[in-house]
Amino acid sequence: MSALVGLDVGTTGVKAVAVSPDGEIVARAEEEYPLATPQPGWVEQDPDDWRRAADAALGSLGVDEIAGIGLSGQMHGLVALDADERVLRPGILWNDQRTGAECREIEERVGLARLIELTGNRALPGFTAPKLLWLRTHEPDAYERIAHVLLPKDYVRLGLAGERAIDVADASGTLLFDVAGRRWSDDVLTALDVPAEWLPTALESPAVSGETPDGVPVAAGAGDQAAGALGVGVHSPGLVSIVVGTSGVVFAPLPTFVADPEARAHVFCHAVPDTWHAMGVMLSAAGSLRWFRETFAPEESYERLLAEAERWEPGAEGLLFLPYLAGERTPHVDPDARGAFVGLSLRHDRGALVRALLEGVAYGLRDSLEVLRSLGCRVDGGRVSGGGARSELWLRIVASVLGLPLERTAVEEGAAYGAALLGGVAGGVFGDVPEAVAAWVRVRDTVEPDANWERVYADGYGRFRALYPALRPLESE
Ligand code: XUL
Repeated sequence: MSALVGLDVGTTGVKAVAVSPDGEIVARAEEEYPLATPQPGWVEQDPDDWRRAADAALGSLGVDEIAGIGLSGQMHGLVALDADERVLRPGILWNDQRTGAECREIEERVGLARLIELTGNRALPGFTAPKLLWLRTHEPDAYERIAHVLLPKDYVRLGLAGERAIDVADASGTLLFDVAGRRWSDDVLTALDVPAEWLPTALESPAVSGETPDGVPVAAGAGDQAAGALGVGVHSPGLVSIVVGTSGVVFAPLPTFVADPEARAHVFCHAVPDTWHAMGVMLSAAGSLRWFRETFAPEESYERLLAEAERWEPGAEGLLFLPYLAGERTPHVDPDARGAFVGLSLRHDRGALVRALLEGVAYGLRDSLEVLRSLGCRVDGGRVSGGGARSELWLRIVASVLGLPLERTAVEEGAAYGAALLGGVAGGVFGDVPEAVAAWVRVRDTVEPDANWERVYADGYGRFRALYPALRPLESE
């Protein structure tokens, strides 16, 4: 029986899973690598670490017969190669913040409205195009030698299959892609003076991008959010994928391309051919809880802190938390936004702070959901994943704030599972992505909204929404 393999080239390491044709995990492996922050705001990795980790993870899966491989990975990163396909400098990652000036330059050169119309997005420091412009200004010697530009997982593909290719979902996060037309944007490339020859071939996610030396087909794959959505069965309009990880994501499939005129949410190609998705991203979701624990209660377990929060009534007697500890993408697109606890009284204890934090993150997810609804996304229910989804309390809060039933799936391997599913289509085990999702993705349990909590949170959300405009003018730049 041959397995399907999914490889997720993440920020902390590579995760590999081998999956049987009926969707059971038969083997898993993880290999870590370091992250370098050579200057404040810079985040880099050695692209050859990704390859070494991918080879090691594949090796330790111990699977002899592989029918297909799918790739997924951290999005938006820049890998610049010379004419011999050698790495010119360390990869610059999605969470690197060095390119504020280049983002302004891009929005001026292309025009903000035109940029949003062409790419579905505005220029954010994490995206790929501003990094290229930064290189042109700050490292002209390296820039002069560029012959090829790849994203992280695609550098691993070049090693595995010898092909320079990308999928349309990941290409959407470069800001060089015509997201509506599902091809590189001549208009943006011309405006930014970036040669089209540098870019890899863009393919639909389940398409075969090449083969390993042993003849195993390698699917084009997808960026981690689109692959993760497939992994929980979010492939067509109706269900939304809600990730409560370090960052928080609300992801909804779209049958046609529609750009948010204010670009509060991202609009990217989905990993299902000829469909799109809108995505709201909040930067500190479970990351807020990690910060709280590390700062105020490093000796306590998460379980203990959550149990203390559970003793408080919803609304925590008026206490509110604004989760903008690392700035915010959706809905404010403001890297300088900051967090806050508002409404403290003598009665509030540590559990109240945690309760307000869980609720504040849920309100942030609701902001993303409202933006997605305003774009016309269909929202019948949610599929949840990420570390925060392990807490029953947090899920009940999120379900009640969003007014949606939230389902957890049987397999929780995230993007690597979605990548394996794409490998299954590329390997001919499934005819298409919906067939693969139907064969593999099972619901484990559902958390329903609580009607009483919903009433309290409707009021709390109104007060939450008033916080950012009230507090922003008070923050120092
Ligand atoms: C999505 C995004 C993250 C990264 C990190 O826009 O920035 O999902 O891909 O994994």
